[in-house]
Parts: sequence; C-alpha cells; structure tokens
Amino acid sequence: MATIESILHETRVFSPSAEFAKRANISGMAAYQALCDEAKSDYAGFWGRLARDHINWHKPFTRVLDESNAPFYKWFDDGELNVSWNCLDRHLATQGDKTAIIFESDEGEITHCSYRELHEQVCQFANGLKSLGVKQGDRVVIYMPMRIEAVIAMQACARIGAIHSVVFGGFSAKSVHERIVDAGASVVITADEQTRGGKHHALKATVDEAMSMGNTDLVRAVVVYRHTGTDIGWQPGRDKWWHELVEGQASECEPVWVNAEHPLFTLYTSGSTGKPKGVQHATAGYLLGVMTSMHWIFDYQPDDIFWCTADVGWITGHSYVTYGPLAMGATQVIFEGVPTYPDAGRFWKIVQDHKVTTFYTAPTAIRSLMKLGPDLPQQYDLSSLRLLGSVGEPINPEAWMWYYTEVGQSRCPVVDTWWQTETGCHMIAPAPGAVPLKPGSCTLPLPGIDAAVVDEAGHEVEPGYGGFLVIKRPFPSQLRTLWNDPERFKRAYFPHDIGGGRYYLAGDSAHCDKDGYFWIMGRADDVLNVSGHRLGTMEIESALVAHPYVTEAAVVGRPHEVKGETIVAFVVLKNKLPQGDQVAEITATLRDWVAKEIGPIARPEEIRFGENLPKTRSGKIMRRLLRALAKGEEITQDTSTLENPAILEQLKQPAP
Ligand code: WT7
Repeated sequence: MATIESILHETRVFSPSAEFAKRANISGMAAYQALCDEAKSDYAGFWGRLARDHINWHKPFTRVLDESNAPFYKWFDDGELNVSWNCLDRHLATQGDKTAIIFESDEGEITHCSYRELHEQVCQFANGLKSLGVKQGDRVVIYMPMRIEAVIAMQACARIGAIHSVVFGGFSAKSVHERIVDAGASVVITADEQTRGGKHHALKATVDEAMSMGNTDLVRAVVVYRHTGTDIGWQPGRDKWWHELVEGQASECEPVWVNAEHPLFTLYTSGSTGKPKGVQHATAGYLLGVMTSMHWIFDYQPDDIFWCTADVGWITGHSYVTYGPLAMGATQVIFEGVPTYPDAGRFWKIVQDHKVTTFYTAPTAIRSLMKLGPDLPQQYDLSSLRLLGSVGEPINPEAWMWYYTEVGQSRCPVVDTWWQTETGCHMIAPAPGAVPLKPGSCTLPLPGIDAAVVDEAGHEVEPGYGGFLVIKRPFPSQLRTLWNDPERFKRAYFPHDIGGGRYYLAGDSAHCDKDGYFWIMGRADDVLNVSGHRLGTMEIESALVAHPYVTEAAVVGRPHEVKGETIVAFVVLKNKLPQGDQVAEITATLRDWVAKEIGPIARPEEIRFGENLPKTRSGKIMRRLLRALAKGEEITQDTSTLENPAILEQLKQPAP
C-alpha cells in the first residue's frame, strides 16, 4: 500500500516522450490546459460541445445541464439516443469488418468477432428478450462468465432500453437474490458454469438457489447460456436456453430511442452501512464520460488493440469493456481466465499473441505478477505496448516502477486512473501525452472535473495536508441516484456539512502536492479495498452476526503486500471463548460462512475471538484500536475513553 510516508518521499517525474506526445489526442500541457480553461470559462458550452462531437444523437439536445433539482442533476435531458446504436450500428458503414472483440478463453481458445457479427448477435438476443416481454425500463439481472455473451447481454438490454444490473460471477446466491429483489428484475441471464484458472464454478445453480429465497415472483424467465455443458437443474416454463431463444430471431433490431436521462444500468457497490447501494447511471452522460476518457486518458487511436482485464461484473468492465471501446470502434481483447493460469506469464503471452497496445489492470494483479515472475515479461515480445493503465487502489511506487520498466520497457506511460463505480469514468488521471507522471500519484483531474481536497467544513486544505476528496461541480457521468433510495443518495454523496450539500463526496481521503497532483490515501469511511474490490465492513459484520454462534463482530482492514488490504474480524461468540481445536474449527466455519453469504472475496483472512470488543463508554466500537491490533502494533493511542481496557490483551493474540 502507498503509505503517506512512502509517497511523500517520491520525487521521480516521468515526462511523455516527444514521440508519444506528438501523436497524442491531448498533445502537451498547453493542450491540456486549453481544455481545462475551456471548461472553466463556459462549463455548459464545453460539455455540450463534447456531447455533440462524440455521441450520435437521434434527437439533438437543446439544454446541457439542469441544476434545478440538485443534487439530482440532469444532462442533455431533451436529447434522445441509444447506446447500443452508438457502440455498434454507427461503425457498420465505415468498419463493419473490423474486429470488435478478440476473445481468449480460459483454456486458450481464440474467437474473433467483427462489428457486423457483434451487431447481429446483439440484435438477435435483443429480439429474444423482446419475445420474453422485456420492455423499456424493465430490469434484467446478468450473472455471466467473462465471455462475449456477457457483452451481448448488456448491449441487448441497452438496445431495447432495459436496465441491466450485472452481478459479479464470484458473488453468492444471497447477493444475487438481494439484487434481483431490490431491482425488481423480470429476467435473469446466466450460464451453466464459468471457468477460471482451469476450475469450473456453478452459476445456474447459484441462480436457482437465489430464486428459491423468496420475493422473486417478478422474474418471468431465466435465460441460460450453455458454456461447459454440465448437467443443471431446469424449471420448465421459467428456464430458457440462450441458443433456443435466439434461434430464428431477426438479425436486425430497431433500437429504442431513449431520453438522455433514461437509466442505462444499475450496479451494486458497497457503502459504509450494511446494504449494498444500487448505483444508477444515465444514458448520455455516462456514454460521454466513457468516450472522453477513452479519448483523453487511453489516448485511443484507431489502430489500437485495447485490453482491459476487468470482469464485466465491476464498473471497470462496464466502462472499459462493454461500452467505452465499442463506442470508439476499437478492437479489444476479452479474456475469460486469471493472470496466473496456466502460469504467471499468461497476461504477457496474451499481450504478445494479440499485439496489445493498451493494457489496463489493477495494482493487485501487478504486485502478484511482480512477485511470481519479476523477469517473466522479458521472455515475451511486449513491443506492441504503448500505454499502460492502473485502477482500483493506490499503486505503490515500487509496483509502478516495475510496471513501467519491466512491462512497459520504460517506453509506455503509466496512467494511474482514480475513479469509482459512482463516477462512471476516470476522474483524476494523466492525459499521457501531456501530464508528467509521478509514481504513486493519479496526477491531475480530467478537463472539466473540478476535484479538490477539503476539510470537515468543506474548505480547501493547503498542499501537503490530507482531507476529503470532493468534486465541486456536477459532471455528466456521475451517478444519478441510488436505485430505490434517493435519500441515501443525498446523504451519502452530497452531505450538508461538507460543502453545504453541493460537493460530490467521494469517500476517499487524499492530499495534493505543490504541483496540484492528487495522492489518494485510501477510504475515509468504513469501506475496505481488498484486491481492488470494495467491501463494506458493516456488510461483513452483518454476515458474521447472522451466524448462530456469533453475538457481535467488528471487521477491519490490514495492509497486505499483494491484495492492498485483507480482512481481519474480531468476534464475540454466544458461548464462552473457544479453546484448543475449537478455535480452528469455528474459524473455518465462520470464514466459509462469510464466503457463502457474500462471496469468496469477502472471506476474512483472520478471525480473533474475545469475550468483548473494545468500546467507548457510549458503546461505540473503537475501530482504530482494532486496526492497530490487527497490524500487531503496540497500542500507543489514548485508551482513556475505553470502557473495558483489559479486552485489548485478549484480542492482541493473533489467531494460531
Ligand atoms: C474506490 C472505488 C474505479 C474502478 C474500480 C474500483 C479506490 C480506485 C484508484 C486509484 C487510488 C483508487 C478508491 C475509490 N480507487 N482507483 N487509481 N488510486 N484509489 O471501483 O469499486 O467503485 O471503488 O477504489 O478508494 O473510492 P469501486
């Protein structure tokens, strides 16, 4: 993890080469500054110009930004468009035969899919959905392996104005259930199984389990893509095979032209409290955000081979697999598997085989590959690469340098992109042909993004001082609300005490240096970042206390060399403290329980048992003490407000 210590001492600066800068979409600092100035002098004019430049409108908009019902902002709201049309149809005349997707399966099988073929498959599937009665505004839950069909399912929803809600394939039946119910989904799209790293994982069986948990009456159909061909349970009437659904469907499907503010999708993410939040994105603003960031930050060029390694279950996969690259007309790689199968050279082999130019992954993957095979990149021909990207958590300077020198051969800029599920696209990231890089910093905001670091009263802090990261003006790609919960939306993102309810509060802490560069320090709320994935401490605590053995639980993050953070849980059992073999037994039970309740990524690394938890006299759990205990630090903090100081001794012992 990038600690404040390590980054404050980071002084290396890497400027773009003249050669890179010359060809870049934002060429040089003056060009970057000109865009920032344009936004500053005429904010609406700036975004309006970009929306006209990048998007094909069915009906042009006449208004750019409507702030009358802040913070429920509206953008371009009398315009009409269709995202799937912008991603597919508009390329057919000029580059229908260009490869849209190079798909590589877990076992290394390769499929090329052109824009024309993708268009046809999306249309057929969209017609299939229509035959199931799916209409504009209906919700569709997608729980799919990382294959072309996942993109087809999402694009087909966008085509007919249905709102998709993708659930990451690693999430549990309970998570799938929660999302089906909250979204009020009428159709679920899944596959028999997914394969990753040579292993099969059930998807359909998990959906069946979710469907048996109640309140799922609205679901009319479960569409199943046959992937591994394994035996699965079948509910006649409800369950439909994907291949049967598309059979005989027309290969044209007139897109449904929707209003710019029509919800494109919801995606659930963790917050400070127990229940995941259904982040809702709008059609036009989101599309504009992914396109401008493809153009500025990934410096998209028509001959690029773009590869974002994220799963479509996360926002990164939505923005930089399903929507961004296709909207630009790019050729992209989609990979089903994991970075370490069959060995730690897999990513580098894919780069070599498909001549990838732009490679985007997460620090946790970089750190694990750096550990497993520091010299492996040299064994592959990586000369096609011209740009590298990082996302999900702060990248520590050591990993940044390895990525830059060993993978990028000191030739490729590294764009460290800070953003969130809620922002839809990059917010703070270097335009690689302009902004000099500092390892560990996500550098400067994108043109038009008014980011700042403020104190508790909403006042900007001096360079070098930490504070809350906010965005001071509304921007097109920001979430519109939380599905079914507008009050929580206001409370969580536009709190009154910081900036009077006008600033978008990201939930991260950060500081700026004297050059105005942003350095993200981590979450400022009770949200953990495990391998670049967001998990709420409350969510995990709720799962633990739902187990019959447990009375009380507190969860904290502990810094981890590869994952960024791991989960340590402090648990009070209903019975007395476990002894001997019981400890390992109950630990294993509870770890598996959490994995089952939420998903394997939420499985605590360590569980410690105590007769109590450290609390203030008013009953608040003192998490900062637990964080110190988890790290094995001596408690030097003030414990005078602690109700039960003796408990610290008990919780100090790491689990055997
Ligand atoms: C949180 C958002 C954005 C797609 C992946 C995660 C952390 C993300 C960076 C970065 C430092 C980062 C923040 C943020 N984060 N990118 N480049 N440097 N921190 O999306 O699940 O919504 O998580 O990830 O803490 O708030 P997400």
